[in-house]
Amino acid sequence: MNIEDFIRDIPDFPKEGIVFKDITPLLLSPEALKETTSLLLKMVGNSKIDKVIGMESRGFFFATLLARELDAGFIPVRKPNKLPAKTISESYGLEYGSDILEIHEDAINEGDKILIHDDVLATGGTAEAVCKMVQRLGGEIIQCNFLIELTFLKGADKLKGYNLQSLIKY
Ligand code: PRP
Ligand code: MG
Repeated sequence: MNIEDFIRDIPDFPKEGIVFKDITPLLLSPEALKETTSLLLKMVGNSKIDKVIGMESRGFFFATLLARELDAGFIPVRKPNKLPAKTISESYGLEYGSDILEIHEDAINEGDKILIHDDVLATGGTAEAVCKMVQRLGGEIIQCNFLIELTFLKGADKLKGYNLQSLIKY
């Protein structure tokens, strides 16, 4: 099975000139969902993971599945004013627009081994902001794990020094 067959290009979404990588066909297929989860897990290898972070919204899909398979906990990183307890935040620049991300400050304990997952690595702003928050809370980033990397946007440059793994590169 080629999981790329389950990712479709949507031109001019959400703005003119942007080609959106739509993973909903991949989520819709039970076989593709299973295969993608297992390929993402293989990238993690045998490293012990305490907690998996997923970024709102599209990072949640596979981060939760990975946490389950790794016997790890799941931590949501969310857009502003969504998390109810005490948070820390970082601002970031996006491929389109800019925003703030938040995490519960009690979600990570000193020395926790953290897997960061998102569906897409584009400019790297989102992932960089998450890495900063994990480090501020004393977590150890084992891997930054992505389903898709848009290499032409050079997000990898922002994640130098981290173990970066992407399943599909465009
Ligand atoms: C998209 C994508 C990544 C991020 C990558 O999320 O899901 O999280 O952009 O971009 P970057 O590497 O340039 O930061 P988006 O913020 O559009 O929100 P969504 O996941 O809620 O759709
Ligand atoms: Mg996202």
